[in-house]
Amino acid sequence: MRIVVMVSGSGTNLQSILDAVQADLLDVEIAAVGADKPCRGIERAADSGIENFVVSPSDHADRAAWNRALEEKIASYAPDYVIFAGFMRIVDADLVGRFEGRIVNTHPALLPSFPGAHGVRDALAHGVKITGVTVHVVDSGVDTGPILAQAAVPVLDGDDEEALHERIKAQERSLLVTTIKNLSGGAID
Ligand code: GRF
Repeated sequence: MRIVVMVSGSGTNLQSILDAVQADLLDVEIAAVGADKPCRGIERAADSGIENFVVSPSDHADRAAWNRALEEKIASYAPDYVIFAGFMRIVDADLVGRFEGRIVNTHPALLPSFPGAHGVRDALAHGVKITGVTVHVVDSGVDTGPILAQAAVPVLDGDDEEALHERIKAQERSLLVTTIKNLSGGAID
């Protein structure tokens, strides 16, 4: 199974996928890693010898042109699945439609609660005692597609956004690898 992984930042979720493939715990081909800007995640791909690319909104006349350029770039790798692993851009319905049902996103909250770009901060601000992570199929909404997997994470007294997000990411990394493994038909050992 071929995947393209999209990142926007530190890329620790990408790293967990890279490590799982390296350790023969995940039998997928990472055809490429892409981003909307140069970032640590792209450096991680390069360090692992994985083809990588950046399609930056600032290089395109408008958001629609950026979506088309990104869509064609991803399609050029003929992926079975596209994994949004900390990819912080909203893609348009045409791009979602091109890979109908084969884009998987990870979100650091228990959807449908706290969708959007600040799920960790919003959960903390709301005062929830349990939050978590959701891996879901991307549809034309924002964080609204069919849920594939979730994991609960406790909010501890004194948590700030960073501490809570790190606790969530510890669960997220393994949940994402397990979900990709399920998609690839690999049984969970
Ligand atoms: C992840 O928690 C992801 O769910 C959220 O941003 C974080 C990205 O972390 N959208 P990383 O880039 O994988 O380290």
